[in-house]
Amino acid sequence: MTISASVHRPPIIAPSMLKCDFGNLIGEIGRLETAGSTWLHWDVMDGHFVPNLSYGAMVIQSVRTRTKAFFDAHLMIGDPAKYLDDYINAGCDAITVHIEAVPDPGPLLKRIRAAGRQAGLALNPVTPVSRIEPFLEECDLVLVMSVEPGFGGQKFMPQVLEKVQSLKTKISPGTLLSIDGGIASPTIASAAKAGCQVFVAGSAVFDEPEYRDAIENLQRLAASR
Ligand code: DX5
Ligand code: ZN
Repeated sequence: MTISASVHRPPIIAPSMLKCDFGNLIGEIGRLETAGSTWLHWDVMDGHFVPNLSYGAMVIQSVRTRTKAFFDAHLMIGDPAKYLDDYINAGCDAITVHIEAVPDPGPLLKRIRAAGRQAGLALNPVTPVSRIEPFLEECDLVLVMSVEPGFGGQKFMPQVLEKVQSLKTKISPGTLLSIDGGIASPTIASAAKAGCQVFVAGSAVFDEPEYRDAIENLQRLAASR
């Protein structure tokens, strides 16, 4: 089953939990649900693949039963194969690994699918599409980074949109194209126009006083491309 065959209809705004108030994680999830969020994007960082440390499978698992939201895990870690089972057991619905961390992600993507989860492959801004092209058939989701991974609140890199356009012509119709980094009111429409269907947004949601207004505004701009 592909993600687009599920209840989640693009454009999908996926709040990046990296930017939430961790002191009130359950409260934040509740606020997002009330605001209409059906996807939550979990940024996992190991302080090695990226120069920042966030949270891991234990934290994700601890809130899994508290919401029905689709859990979209973005693993920015150097050895995802070693920890994959933890994220499967934590109840992640989609698990995305980086091509820069796993040069031959085929077996890993197969393991994710075999566990009944959606397999995702991410590429950094400088990584060419040709690096992931041999694996596109094994992806339910392709994540294009529009900032260098590691931190929220960075400036969107418009040059990655060329890669989105190229990927759009190469992926199968059931594969979702996601974009992550610097997605906000001024940038989301161009990403949608290029072919993105999932929009990860950290600052553009969590820095706003009303999550519902922020999410609906982003949704409207993405749909108006
Ligand atoms: C960056 C993360 C992003 C980030 C998004 O490494 O993958 O998900 O938190 O945050 P904003 O939307 O603020 O760029
Ligand atoms: Zn992310």
